[in-house]
Amino acid sequence: MKVLIVGGGGREHAIAVKCSESKNVDKLYAAPGNAGIAKLAECVDISVMDADKLVAFAKEKEIDLTIIGPDDPLVAGVADAFKNAGLRVFGPAKNAAIIEGSKAFSKDLMKKYNIPSAAYEVFNNADDALSYLETAKMPIVLKADGLALGKGVLICNNLEEAKAGVKTLMLDKQFGSAGDKIVIEEFMTGREVSVLCFCDGTHIKPMTSAQDHKRAKDGDKGLNTGGMGTFSPSPFYTDDVDKFCKEKIYQPTMDAMKAEGRDFTGILFCGLMLTEDGPKVLEYNARFGDPEAQVVLPRMKNDIIEVMEACIDGKLDEVDLQFEDNAAVCVILASDGYPEHYEKGFVISGLETFDDKDGYYVFHAGTKLTDKGIVTNGGRVLGVTAKGEDLHKARANAYEATKWIDFENKYMRNDIGKAIDEQ
Ligand code: AMP
Ligand code: GLY
Repeated sequence: MKVLIVGGGGREHAIAVKCSESKNVDKLYAAPGNAGIAKLAECVDISVMDADKLVAFAKEKEIDLTIIGPDDPLVAGVADAFKNAGLRVFGPAKNAAIIEGSKAFSKDLMKKYNIPSAAYEVFNNADDALSYLETAKMPIVLKADGLALGKGVLICNNLEEAKAGVKTLMLDKQFGSAGDKIVIEEFMTGREVSVLCFCDGTHIKPMTSAQDHKRAKDGDKGLNTGGMGTFSPSPFYTDDVDKFCKEKIYQPTMDAMKAEGRDFTGILFCGLMLTEDGPKVLEYNARFGDPEAQVVLPRMKNDIIEVMEACIDGKLDEVDLQFEDNAAVCVILASDGYPEHYEKGFVISGLETFDDKDGYYVFHAGTKLTDKGIVTNGGRVLGVTAKGEDLHKARANAYEATKWIDFENKYMRNDIGKAIDEQ
């Protein structure tokens, strides 16, 4: 089979590694890919948002399956363009990816179908939002309705902060039209867990659990980022939690989307909070998490192509999804200063150390191949993942492996997976 991966981050590199291990894949392409993916796939310089060019490329190369990694093209309907052209694609259609593209849509869906989540109100204008806040309980959470690079969520401790938040989102339009509408939501407390699920429109199968660390600095301090590291599985995601989520969250969400006439085929990412009142949905995403994919996929035993094909064919119920009985930790190596100001263009050394090491991976995110070699080219540069027989071993292995890599301004958190020590 010929397979095209759309995207060029650490998540797509993790997908590419899994595809390269599949006995079904003869040739792998990526658009645009990155310096790490280029070792496994032929990279072609087409934007993830350019549906016409992607479809034309897939036709020209006679691609058998296209996998769309990021949220933007899914929410914009790139999967639809493939389907309309009669091409096989893994990723939800636009009218299903809206579950990530609009927070108001996802909250209304959860309310209508009794899926546990925080209480909320939706506002289309700032005046109504501001007067609602006057009597609301603090802290409170404000969310831009649309996509905002994971940064459109504001946790406000008091009325003053909340009012300033409404101004930021709705009046100053810090996230553009994503803030035309906002959700104001009850503040919840508890452990966060990410569960990514394969979906075929009718059936849904959760993968092993993971936990992200979104803040830039140790101890969950600093600004929100795209994710500074992950571990899998989460020791807090117990069998009881799993049972509850399967009955009350995963399948009900799949059934709800089907009942609404929205064919969700692809990955549903459930961001959960384990509250005192049980697990509740924080958010849905319509794709693999990044860097959750970098710990979940290395532990998956199945051939990823076979699972994706079963999703497209509506036969996910026939798949026995299995994960290794071990653990994985991913530590992001970033450019110092991320997520604000940082420099790029520094040569990266030590990447080859990973070539002959079983159970160790270096996933490229912000890198570029130049005549000087592979250089840093973004805030999040690499994801270093290691497996181990348990989380403690995996964590020690991952931090050991971070020492193999060097570049100027290398920055990482030193407490990824530390929460497991509290177990
Ligand atoms: P989201 O993009 O909706 O997942 O929100 C980003 C982050 O904000 C989450 O990972 C949580 O840490 C936090 N968050 C979102 N909604 C809530 C809530 N209702 N209560 C407390 N924290 C929240
Ligand atoms: N790691 C969070 C996300 O992919 O949205």
